[in-house]
Amino acid sequence: SFKPRIFSGIQPSGGLTLGNYLGALKRFVEKQDEGIETIYCLVDLHAITVWQDPERLRQQTREGAAAFIAAGIDPKRSILFNQSQVTAHAELGWIFNCIARMGWMSRMTQFKDKAGKNSENVSLGLFAYPSLMAADILAYHATMVPVGDDQKQHLELCRDIAIKFNNDYKVDFFPVVEPLIEGAATRVMSLRDGTKKMSKSDPSDQSRINLTDDADMIAQKIRKAKTDPEPLPETLEGLKDRPEAKNLVNIYAALAGMTPEAVVAEYAGAQFGTFKPKLAELSVAKLSPITTEMNRLMKDPAEIDRILGQGAERADAIAQPILAQVKDIVGM
Ligand code: ADP
Ligand code: NA
Repeated sequence: SFKPRIFSGIQPSGGLTLGNYLGALKRFVEKQDEGIETIYCLVDLHAITVWQDPERLRQQTREGAAAFIAAGIDPKRSILFNQSQVTAHAELGWIFNCIARMGWMSRMTQFKDKAGKNSENVSLGLFAYPSLMAADILAYHATMVPVGDDQKQHLELCRDIAIKFNNDYKVDFFPVVEPLIEGAATRVMSLRDGTKKMSKSDPSDQSRINLTDDADMIAQKIRKAKTDPEPLPETLEGLKDRPEAKNLVNIYAALAGMTPEAVVAEYAGAQFGTFKPKLAELSVAKLSPITTEMNRLMKDPAEIDRILGQGAERADAIAQPILAQVKDIVGM
């Protein structure tokens, strides 16, 4: 049996959003504070599956690291590093490219969403993305992966890869990973339409709340968020066919540490003209300390690089022996 170990990552493909905070970062901190071994990664190899300007990628990687630390990740208690600095990810990713099947990959909804109608013209890396993600996790024999709901299908594929590797080589080597998808806002939706997820990597959608936004910007984005003309209902059931309203209630609940039921009960009958300013106030209260701390950390990029370098050494020390065993199993 495998010892409990958590791995998760965020792409440095843009400024982090409220979705990344509620679906990922906030929960990463909770897991660290529960005392479980936690390994967190800026996944730059994933980011370049779509074009990234080199200087921006460097900047966004540091900014992502600053966001982790500002949100409460302690680089002494958690391992925090940058994926490309630990070569085991790419090496194991290749081996998994030879385990995963084309058919499995072509069923991934994220690939279909990101490739759109242009699937002939996207990178091969974008197609293989989930296989590299499986390597990220399994290079550490991680047993639990906190992610937003959007990553559920990729984690199922990670399980399939682990199972097929174990079967193909008649070993019991890779753990079958448990997804940790919990809470009200594990899928924060876009404030523009409530039907697509809020994403840092969707350039067409400027409605997202970024962790670098100031108080006025946050309030303005919430004020502009699409809603319907009805007041908030008496019970959660009343939000069933109201995705935009439901999204705002979920965001409020996650930020306040309440259940969506409790939020609806508190605001039953309220108009959005009343609810939105409350949501803005709460968002600013939770996010502005993080923004302030990020800005402070970003003044010393050398210190961020030093933290990431130390994290990479610690990560490498775990991943290298596992990779060596994989190569031995495969006959290398
Ligand atoms: P993005 O889609 O914003 O580029 P990533 O692919 O880097 O984000 O995902 C990083 C983490 O943030 C993952 O755990 C993912 O599930 C989570 N996440 C991303 N967007 C959202 C969202 N809108 N709601 C909840 N969690 C999200
Ligand atoms: Na994503």
